[in-house]
Amino acid sequence: MESQQAQRKNEHLSLATKYYQQAHVNNPFDQVRLIHTALPEKAVSDIHLTTALAPGLKLTTPFYIEAMTGGSNQAKEINRQLAYLAAKHHLAMATGSVSVALKNPQYRSSFKVVREENPDGLVIANLSAKATISEAQDAVDLLEANAIEIHLNAAQELIMPEGDRAFYWLTNIRNLVNTLNIPVIVKEVGFGMNKEDVARLSKIGVKIINVSGRGGTNFAMIENRRNHQTNFNSMIDWGQTTPEALLEAQAAGKDTIIIASGGITSPLDVIKSGVLGAQACGVAGYFLNVLAQGGVNALDHTINEWKVVTTRLLTLLGVNNYAALRKANYVLGPQLLSYANQRHLK
Ligand code: FNR
Repeated sequence: MESQQAQRKNEHLSLATKYYQQAHVNNPFDQVRLIHTALPEKAVSDIHLTTALAPGLKLTTPFYIEAMTGGSNQAKEINRQLAYLAAKHHLAMATGSVSVALKNPQYRSSFKVVREENPDGLVIANLSAKATISEAQDAVDLLEANAIEIHLNAAQELIMPEGDRAFYWLTNIRNLVNTLNIPVIVKEVGFGMNKEDVARLSKIGVKIINVSGRGGTNFAMIENRRNHQTNFNSMIDWGQTTPEALLEAQAAGKDTIIIASGGITSPLDVIKSGVLGAQACGVAGYFLNVLAQGGVNALDHTINEWKVVTTRLLTLLGVNNYAALRKANYVLGPQLLSYANQRHLK
């Protein structure tokens, strides 16, 4: 018998796959247009895909497998497959929230498998912003993690029938950042952030922020489907898209390393995120869908292709590496430009 939490993990996996296509009929990255140059003055052999998030946290590719799962038998198998590919392609990989395994030791192996499959790779643990220091340390130890993500998911919790109803997080996040001796990444789960959020997190010492915006996996839709008591249909379009959230983060200043996630579905989205200031991109729902539809071979092929296309696009834009994309020329589509103007961004 699986626990209630494990059942929730399985429902998240199946609903995330079911709704993925529906969720991004419109790609918010279409509102970002890159300016082509006929004279790149670059060769593919000049390009390096590596990108650094912190000392000791250097990614070999600018995209990685973002936090999804763990905590059920099905989740263990998915984690095994994802970790196998992470090891093969030298991608960093974050697990889903480890809290289920801290409460219920029967699920520890569904996370541990990520490290077993990928003994030398970059593994990132994940916990909620209310996690205690000892819980965070346990999660890191369980995975021998190289970094930890702390997720901010107020919108999701409020839609969940069994979710939290109080969200005083800043003091706890400051303690976690000050105490843990590995990099701490603070992330949303698909509703984005605003410039004030980024500034407040930066002020309490958070050095790496994943704005995780709207446009891909939609937890308002997923939790609304699970919640049969209260109808939250009106929340389906809640939050900032990932390009909006990246513009917000840029306006907050240059002190923070920014990661993009939320609706990254192609190497072009990876590139556009870099142009808008991201230092790396987390990919969750899209990779999960490729795995669900076509198995390990399909995702293996996709990851290979993304590396090749990302390298070629950097060549075409005439930049040596991902961080240099910030200098690339672009224009914003009318909706995104209107958003930026009204929010006084840039
Ligand atoms: C997630 N996500 C997530 N995030 C997190 O910080 N902790 C978690 O436990 C989970 N769980 C989870 C389960 C499943 C099935 C999915 C698809 C996603 C959110 C994820 O990391 C990411 O922020 C959002 O999904 C947006 O990115 P995509 O899916 O649009 O690429």
